[in-house]
Amino acid sequence: MLSREDNALLTQVERGTPMGTTLRRYWIPALLARELPEPDGAPVRVRLLGEDLIAFRDTRGQVGLLDEFCPHRRASLFFGRNEECGLRCVYHGWKYDVDGRCVDMMNEPPDLQFKDKIFITSYPTVECGGVVWAYMGPAERKPALPSFAWTRVPATHVTVSKVIQESNWLQGVEGGIDTSHAPILHRLLTSNTTRPGFKPDNPFVRGKAPTLALDVTDYGYRYAGIRPLDEANIHVRTYQFILPFHQIRPSRSEGGVPLVAGHMWVPIDDDNTMVYNWEYSTTDAPLTAEDRLERRLGNGPLDVDQTTFRSKRNRQNNYLLDRQVQKTESFTGIDGINVQDRAIQEGMGPIVDRSREHLGPADRAIIQARRLLLEAVRVVSEGGTPRGIEPTYTTLAAAEAVMPREADWREMTLAAGSQIEQTV
Ligand code: FES
Ligand SMILES: [Fe+2]
Repeated sequence: MLSREDNALLTQVERGTPMGTTLRRYWIPALLARELPEPDGAPVRVRLLGEDLIAFRDTRGQVGLLDEFCPHRRASLFFGRNEECGLRCVYHGWKYDVDGRCVDMMNEPPDLQFKDKIFITSYPTVECGGVVWAYMGPAERKPALPSFAWTRVPATHVTVSKVIQESNWLQGVEGGIDTSHAPILHRLLTSNTTRPGFKPDNPFVRGKAPTLALDVTDYGYRYAGIRPLDEANIHVRTYQFILPFHQIRPSRSEGGVPLVAGHMWVPIDDDNTMVYNWEYSTTDAPLTAEDRLERRLGNGPLDVDQTTFRSKRNRQNNYLLDRQVQKTESFTGIDGINVQDRAIQEGMGPIVDRSREHLGPADRAIIQARRLLLEAVRVVSEGGTPRGIEPTYTTLAAAEAVMPREADWREMTLAAGSQIEQTV
């Protein structure tokens, strides 16, 4: 449970709000690099933390991220011409470079131009892992560039996608660090199905309800769901939470190749989130075309319109829930693991009223994440540096295994991380 005040504090992201100020201290995914495939190509609308922006790739290949609205008389630069190292407003021809400088004014004679006095808001960007990241905070606090294991592996080994979720970002984060729901919401009722989910013989499902173990770290925390299997063995699945919105978890391809996967829940505004999904192969084996379709998760091009990034299974069509399938094949009757998550999290309403919850020990990771996010807001308000800014997260991994009861989950998680240190 959270007070209404703290709920508002954690969920409001616009400029000037405490969480909005905090989030602006981090590098934030703005769009996929492939949305800007070529220099001087079409500009793209981006809404980030409640700000309407336009992204474009200039003649030299650099990505600019500008306020959507032209400082002259506020025309939208979405209609702009991307030409000769700048984006030109088509209303009166004012032109801006990636740094936000006005470099031309077509509607004023040369001796009356005042372009040196005009700037448009622009945010620094960097590309890595197939994502364009933006920094929207004070210039003097700009952190080291983002560097996760998944942003450093070869492109053959990683896939990144995105999809709009119609809820506040924290609902997404809280679903992603909630191991107790995963083998329930995502379970299959029979092994005799090709639908995505966890089959009854999977130890994740066979295990009893989990005990959670959690270590707070300088980036957030690592935690494990520990599920008793029998007298001798436990099933352990570990996760990482990196402030403000990164999750890392173990995964597996259709063909059984071990993967590491994760999400980033990036606020579009208070009521909408862009969920980024990534997965990479930890072995020499590259990802297959099948893996890239993301059938298991329901985020790939088969399920999500790649122009609007809206899911084809959505609130309007009840996520194509099939009650017969729910009786015989899957717990929800909805296809796609992340579609199931979206259905639940969007179904709570745009911002869930956390003052009306009843949390238990299985929600320990969620309670801790809220504490750390509230701490981050306080640290930023006092002029400090919150967790997850310093690059202490660069070699994190997550793992899953059936282990003897006395085995140590921390060793397994750290071993997966040191493997990254050696290979990436
Ligand atoms: S509104 Fe953009 S140039 Fe006039
Ligand atoms: Fe889930």
